[in-house]
Amino acid sequence: MAIERGNFSTRIGFILAAAGSAVGLGNIWKFPFEVGEGGGAAFVVMYLAFCFILCFPVLVAEIAIGRKTQKNAVGAFAALGFKNWSVIGYLGLVSGVLILSFYNVVAAWAFGYFVEMVTGNFGIGNEFGEFTSDWITVGLYSIIFMSATAFIVAKGVSGGIERAAKILMPTLFVMILCLIVYALTLPNAFDGVKFYLVPDFSKITGDVVYSALGQAFFSLSLGMGALITYGSYVSKNDNIVKSAAQITLVDVGVAVLAGFMIFPLVFSQGIQTDGGPGLIFVTLPGVFESLGSMLGVVVGSLFFLLLSFAALTSTISLLEVPTAYMVDEHKIKRSKATWIVALIIFAAGVPSMLSYGAVESLGQFVKLPGIENPLPFLDFVGLIANDTFLPLGGFLISVFTAYIWKKENFNAELASGDSSIKGSWLQTYVDIAISYICPVILGIIFLVTVLDNFLGIKILSLILG
Ligand code: PHE
Repeated sequence: MAIERGNFSTRIGFILAAAGSAVGLGNIWKFPFEVGEGGGAAFVVMYLAFCFILCFPVLVAEIAIGRKTQKNAVGAFAALGFKNWSVIGYLGLVSGVLILSFYNVVAAWAFGYFVEMVTGNFGIGNEFGEFTSDWITVGLYSIIFMSATAFIVAKGVSGGIERAAKILMPTLFVMILCLIVYALTLPNAFDGVKFYLVPDFSKITGDVVYSALGQAFFSLSLGMGALITYGSYVSKNDNIVKSAAQITLVDVGVAVLAGFMIFPLVFSQGIQTDGGPGLIFVTLPGVFESLGSMLGVVVGSLFFLLLSFAALTSTISLLEVPTAYMVDEHKIKRSKATWIVALIIFAAGVPSMLSYGAVESLGQFVKLPGIENPLPFLDFVGLIANDTFLPLGGFLISVFTAYIWKKENFNAELASGDSSIKGSWLQTYVDIAISYICPVILGIIFLVTVLDNFLGIKILSLILG
């Protein structure tokens, strides 16, 4: 019996869903604090360059593999005739499960903060530690968030994923614009804009370049087959190079806009920009409080609702990867597959959830040779999945596309939707990048991560000083 896989019903639906996967906590939570730590605009410029030079070609490759085979991340490699290369898909499944396991916890914090803002509890910023250690409350929000994700994924590709993206993405966009316009009217807002737009090149070190690379890759949801999976639902008539370019533009666009929203807010209170991961959860509630109780509730709730929406379209894509695998390869009905996988991933996320205050030993889970302080479990999973597995997956996908599947076949798939792409400069660039630039850079990122963090060999500072 053939199981109905589903399809995106429109091109714009696909773009919004894929951009929804890309736009997430990475853009709105991680990007601004990395900018804050990495010299403002200098970091932004590098991030933009990496998204287009390095990530865009991998994005095209993933979509092409998916669309050609109409299969999930594991099945796709076998369908092309290279069963051994399914390891890339399995690696992607593991990465997806690990990422979602802790991503859902951070999403739950964001959603919890939305509720706190609605009730006007601005003091929560000073109690971030107490909030995250209250495992019953965070557990409840995690269950709500994972259930919302599963509910949408269970409804299928066009009826669930595409429909949610069509509602959430435009709403998110309008919310960001409203918040930017408002933030720019605050006192000292333009100091924030200046910090954001005037580069401080002295802050650029090997580490900052490396984090900009990693951030670009994570931000576009690459290296784990999310885009192979979404690509498998794309119409044969679409021009996937154009779609990939649009997805990249939306993703970097939202990251850049997030900066215009956050830095004016932060500077309006004269607060330090290098607040690290706490920039949003610790710093911003205080900023919202200063707006007065009425306005603070509106702006604060809007902000954390926006963050939750951004996270939701990403958790949907993370859950879709293992779900599609179960549906295609194990012939399990979509709704059943979705809820089983969601339950497993929720359980896998419990140690991460407990590692921010509830259980001390999980809060100082491992001491790695290359990292000064012991890492909480959540950060450790992030290091393995985001920083190590994703670049490895991206490296393998590039090598596979260029040298195993072969460029002729890759290019034929690109041209099948729109033959005008054949011989264009864009296609020439994608060819060169996927054969040389992507494997080399992604291979280096992977090696640096392993040497630096796990073995304590500070290779970047050895080479670059
Ligand atoms: N791109 C998402 C973000 O920026 C995270 C993500 C990574 C989602 C990998 C899916 C797959 O938050």
